[in-house]
Amino acid sequence: MRVEWDESLSVGIGIIDDQHRKLIERVNAFSEATERMDSREIENTINYLTGYVIQHFGAEELIMIRNGHPAFKEHRDEHSWFVKQVYDVGRVIAARPMTRAEATALRDMLVRWIFRHIRVTDRAIGDTVNQEAFA
Ligand SMILES: [Fe+2]
Repeated sequence: MRVEWDESLSVGIGIIDDQHRKLIERVNAFSEATERMDSREIENTINYLTGYVIQHFGAEELIMIRNGHPAFKEHRDEHSWFVKQVYDVGRVIAARPMTRAEATALRDMLVRWIFRHIRVTDRAIGDTVNQEAFA
């Protein structure tokens, strides 16, 4: 299963959209490793995804702070929840390989969470920033 970035995912801030494209590429790399059930590659792609997500969330949070985004705390809580999920998975797969069912369920959770988060929560950052820009 491949997922693609398209305009419906644009939040109206170029740097965030670029990072979301990269994030989706990392989800695809994990998804491909899952389809091949390549345990080493599953571990590598999850670690890579986790590192990227932490960096990307930090960038978003800085933009929110700079722009006085009203829902900063709730948004940061969503990020923290997600980081904990992928970090916990990283600890499991460091100890033993994931089963196909676990890897597929994780892939589905990642895709669902990321698309919903971008379309609802991240889009609100774009609304705040662009309102400021045109005020
Ligand atoms: Fe976000």
